[in-house]
Amino acid sequence: MGCSGCCLLWITCVVLVFLQCGAVRVTVRESVLEVVQGDSVTLPCSFLTMMPLFRLSIIWTLTPASDPHSPLQVIVYDQGQVIESPAFTGRVSFADMPWSADVILNDTRVSDAGTYRCVVSNPPETGDPGIGELSLGVLAPPSLPVCLWEGDTDAGGSVALSCLVVEGIPIPQMSWEKLNPEKIILPVNMEGERMGSVKIINVSAQNSGVYRCSVTNLLGTQNCYVNLSVYTPSDDSPGVLQGVLLTLFMALVLLALLVLVLWLHRSAQESKWRNRREDEECYNEIRYTPSLIKRSFV
Ligand SMILES: *[C@@H]1O[C@H](CO)[C@@H](O)[C@H](O)[C@H]1NC(C)=O
Ligand SMILES: *[C@@H]1O[C@H](CO)[C@@H](O)[C@H](O)[C@H]1NC(C)=O
Ligand SMILES: *[C@@H]1O[C@H](CO)[C@@H](O)[C@H](O)[C@H]1NC(C)=O
Repeated sequence: MGCSGCCLLWITCVVLVFLQCGAVRVTVRESVLEVVQGDSVTLPCSFLTMMPLFRLSIIWTLTPASDPHSPLQVIVYDQGQVIESPAFTGRVSFADMPWSADVILNDTRVSDAGTYRCVVSNPPETGDPGIGELSLGVLAPPSLPVCLWEGDTDAGGSVALSCLVVEGIPIPQMSWEKLNPEKIILPVNMEGERMGSVKIINVSAQNSGVYRCSVTNLLGTQNCYVNLSVYTPSDDSPGVLQGVLLTLFMALVLLALLVLVLWLHRSAQESKWRNRREDEECYNEIRYTPSLIKRSFV
């Protein structure tokens, strides 16, 4: 009699425990995940329920890191039906339905980063639905940076070199170097996280050369270049020497031309003189002829 009362109490206890722990229990095996952009990732979410799975419902949502105020639905399982959200169509699927709520996300994008939640309920199991939460980071190599320069490249002026990198997670480190004649690392002023500049004041010929901006994160490095040539009018550079030599050469050619012209002029005059003398001789002859005739008359 006492024993059956004990049994009854025990059964009541078990039923009560079941009712109290009746909620679906969810566990997330890894709560911080990282993936390289383009790769696949499994978002883990296991659940435990005491009821058959006829009315199982799973909802995955994302709170994007880039826009925390607009959570998105990712994929839904409801009584045997799977619905993918437009932003994830063709990229997301359940890995092992209905035994776990894991999903596989393919072809990951930087915009997929954020906090994911899996919400599992299994009526008629009572209580709150089970909720699992994990954060996903999506890494990306730096994109090709853009190098720009502005300012005055005449000697004494000042020039600013700037470099902008749009993509890359984690945020790429930026450095500026002058490459020739010897490598010099230049101090970078960061303007925000993705733009850095170098200022060169009172430029001179020594500042001419190739400058390189490098952006680096753990996935890679990209570079862009600026060719700076400082214009120095009063410099003993080979260009000036060449200019002097060219001027000398031109002067010599001019001199030679002058001599030639003078010589031609002179020889032309000489030949004119000679011609005139010949003409005069002819005149004489012609003048002479009538006199001869006259003489013959005489
Ligand atoms: C994700 O990629 C895996 C392996 O390439 C493939 O088996 C699976 O079908 C893909 N899932 C989707 C939703 O495209
Ligand atoms: C600029 O540089 C030249 C020589 O490189 C120097 O003589 C001059 O004083 C400098 N001017 C200023 C304003 O620093
Ligand atoms: C810089 O200029 C040199 C010669 O003027 C040229 O050979 C080189 O390709 C240029 N480099 C860049 C990055 O423009």
